[in-house]
Amino acid sequence: MEQQIKIMAVSGSLRSSSSTTRVLEALQARLEQYGSYFLFKGLAAIPPFDDANETPIEVTVWRQHLQEADAVLICSPEYAFGIPGALKNAIDWTVASGELVNKPLALITAATSGEKAHAAWLDVFNALSANITPERSVLISHVRAKIDGKGNITDPPAAEAIKILIDSLVTSASSSVTAGN
Ligand SMILES: Cc1cc2nc3c(=O)[nH]c(=O)nc-3n(C[C@H](O)[C@H](O)[C@H](O)COP(=O)(O)O)c2cc1C
Repeated sequence: MEQQIKIMAVSGSLRSSSSTTRVLEALQARLEQYGSYFLFKGLAAIPPFDDANETPIEVTVWRQHLQEADAVLICSPEYAFGIPGALKNAIDWTVASGELVNKPLALITAATSGEKAHAAWLDVFNALSANITPERSVLISHVRAKIDGKGNITDPPAAEAIKILIDSLVTSASSSVTAGN
């Protein structure tokens, strides 16, 4: 029996019809069996990074959610050959405060191609010393052909990669909880 863990999911897209958000919504039922699953919706309210000012309340909330999570699951699109700005901005607010250091983290990049964003995110999370491993890093190219309207992954290889990603994330987070980290 695995530990009960708190999983925080974050979509890199603010679009109301976002496919990455749908993917995270579709994963909720599977991940809730391991504990709690919380899809963060406050990304659009996080101001541009500026460490000269007092910390905005939206940033404090973002940091607290990350701090309290045993595992973080990110699903991101690629925009204009890069990573989406709103999520990168939110991540930039954690550089000094360190919420992602050693945090069990999984990344799904879901886009038309996504190769550039995926590589860039891996650089970001490695730079921040997040606990991300190859099996917790999945690129789903041609995502629109691989999910249904609710975000369920219909492509067998992609579904298998996500299963491995989930197993790895849950195991890593459970180990951290057991170790009291
Ligand atoms: C403004 C914009 C720029 C995009 N640029 C790229 C790109 O450079 N490379 C890519 O692979 N996909 C690109 N796409 C496609 C998205 O990555 C893809 O449609 C993804 O599923 C969108 O995720 P979302 O629905 O969660 O916003 C772009 C989409 C938009 C809206």
